[in-house]
Amino acid sequence: MKFAMIGYGRMGREIKCLGEEKGHQVPVTVDPHAPEATHKSLSAQILSGLDGVIEFALPQGTLTNLKTALEAKVPMVIGTTGWDDQLEKARKMTLEAGGCVVYGSNYSIGAHIFFQLVEEGARLINAVDDYDIMLVEHHHKNKVDSPSGTALTTAGRILKALERKTRLETSAIQGAIAPEALHVASVRGGSIPGIHHVSMDSPMDTVEIIHTARSRQGFALGSLLALSWAQGKKGFFPVEDFIQDFLNL
Ligand SMILES: NC(=O)c1ccc[n+]([C@@H]2O[C@H](COP(=O)([O-])OP(=O)(O)OC[C@H]3O[C@@H](n4cnc5c(N)ncnc54)[C@H](O)[C@@H]3O)[C@@H](O)[C@H]2O)c1
Repeated sequence: MKFAMIGYGRMGREIKCLGEEKGHQVPVTVDPHAPEATHKSLSAQILSGLDGVIEFALPQGTLTNLKTALEAKVPMVIGTTGWDDQLEKARKMTLEAGGCVVYGSNYSIGAHIFFQLVEEGARLINAVDDYDIMLVEHHHKNKVDSPSGTALTTAGRILKALERKTRLETSAIQGAIAPEALHVASVRGGSIPGIHHVSMDSPMDTVEIIHTARSRQGFALGSLLALSWAQGKKGFFPVEDFIQDFLNL
């Protein structure tokens, strides 16, 4: 594929680098602040002849960039986070224009495999009251949010699958934990890109499911695969739709 990268920060660079390694071409990079970017802003003209755009930038520009991608009639993969309040508007614009958008806050294929395994594990222990389930996540010392978005997604999948857990407990517990509470503990320190550790524990044994991120490459690969998947499609798709299809779920 030949595509444009919108946002040439940490993710933009990673995606261009991995994309070129995999034989794709990235002739256009758009970023108002990065001196190495080929363009400061996006226009339909610079998208002509390209197979799509991938955006990992700031949420303030997402709707304007989407409008341009729709005008240029190319699919757009959006990895930028923090624009949920504009999702309905974006959906309407995309469907009216007959365009194609894939959007989501986690493009890591490994993370989605982890979510799927955790949900299946939680579903299985419905039949065995002896097992309790809990989640611990580790991230580097500069991470600002807690629990992580990935931990909250994982916890949501557990609550969906396991009847006896009905709510999250994200604070430090001073006494015994209520049986219906799912404990999600966050540890911060060092340079850890992200570890999510689910334990299903019984008096007999422990079953553990762990996702360990090594770098941003997992997100980059997922966004490239999502853009390939989007070729020739019409619609406004959450990344989960791409993953379901891609993993034959
Ligand atoms: N969906 C995922 O899997 C996933 C994974 C990692 C990061 N993210 C999200 O991707 C986004 C970027 O992350 P990052 O780590 O690369 O951040 P970053 O700060 O390193 O880079 C963002 C870049 O976007 C540029 N930018 C700002 N406004 C722009 C606009 N209107 N048009 C083009 N470029 C613009 C900035 O100048 C900056 O260089 C964030 O929203 C982050 O939360 C998503």
